[in-house]
Amino acid sequence: MNEALTLARALCAGELFDVSDFAALLRESIDESDAVLRDAAVRVRKQIYGNSVFVRGLIEISSYCKNDCYYCGIRRGNQSAERYRLTPEEILLCADEGYALGFRTVVLQGGEDPFFTDVLLCGLIDKIKTAHPNCAVTLSLGERSRESYRSLFDAGADRYLLRHETATKAHYEKLHPPVLSFDNRMRCLYDLREIGYQVGAGFMVGSPFQTKEDLARDLCFIRDFQPDMCGIGPFIPHKDTPFAAYPAGTLDETLRLLSIIRLLKPNILLPATTALGTIHPQGRELGIQAGANVVMPNLSPASVRKKYALYDNKICTGEESAQCKDCLALRMASIGYEIVIDRGDVKPM
Ligand code: 5AD
Ligand code: FES
Repeated sequence: MNEALTLARALCAGELFDVSDFAALLRESIDESDAVLRDAAVRVRKQIYGNSVFVRGLIEISSYCKNDCYYCGIRRGNQSAERYRLTPEEILLCADEGYALGFRTVVLQGGEDPFFTDVLLCGLIDKIKTAHPNCAVTLSLGERSRESYRSLFDAGADRYLLRHETATKAHYEKLHPPVLSFDNRMRCLYDLREIGYQVGAGFMVGSPFQTKEDLARDLCFIRDFQPDMCGIGPFIPHKDTPFAAYPAGTLDETLRLLSIIRLLKPNILLPATTALGTIHPQGRELGIQAGANVVMPNLSPASVRKKYALYDNKICTGEESAQCKDCLALRMASIGYEIVIDRGDVKPM
């Protein structure tokens, strides 16, 4: 029998994989092994979450970033990037609009912009939580100090998304300039968990120099760290970055990894990301059908959307929030899933 098929069945049966097992599965995958992984992933996801899909309203609060990650379109070194930052009033209006549209989680995401101090963010989080006490506030604002994470948590933030980007230190160093360190990234994730946040990790699929062993280490990290959420999507080149000429990650590999991650942590919150919807017109539907259970429509003011360009050809940059939400609701309905009005916390297994 094909090695990947044997491995896929072993993984579904709960066998403990090491790096070389995961790498072999990823290297040898065929349609039949993908089908085995997908069917098992959908089965366990349905047992826990039924046909519900959770939504998160994503507010992109700033395109300023002090970092210079080689893959990212809003890196400091990109002189052509258009910069904006939303005012606290604009952010609150987005959150109100999201609430009216049925979102019970808002995600404040942005580049690492020193303008957003702890004091400013704490005031903002407090205002959102006061206006909408039954909403979860998720932050996705990059690396900060432990003290900062603690203040934001004390102000009411519930969750924090910080993709680890790659669990392989040597690979991390190929994607980032020397001032950014793998060790600090990991420190942040462990601090966030200790403080009490629900934590999201994640990585790009097909990022430059990534090997199957690197992906295998990402999977081992997800299994061992057991994050509440995991954001994965294909790497997509941005024309004004050092990685402009590298190929995008593939649909098939991203779907395969979504299924595997679902199997490694059956109740994980797993988004079908905008990047997945960008590389394929039905990418997010296929992501849900591979084991994802979250979608993150854009709530940013339409006037700034094109400026939050992490990669080329990003979708949902011309639409209003209500259009994005309706579009996703229709897309989910078309495959037999339903967007629910819910905070969308992790369900106990
Ligand atoms: N392609 C795909 N994903 C990207 N990200 C940043 N740049 C790109 C790109 N070119 C992802 C990173 C980051 C998240 C906010 O977006 O994983 O953590
Ligand atoms: Fe944004 Fe379809 S989800 S336009």
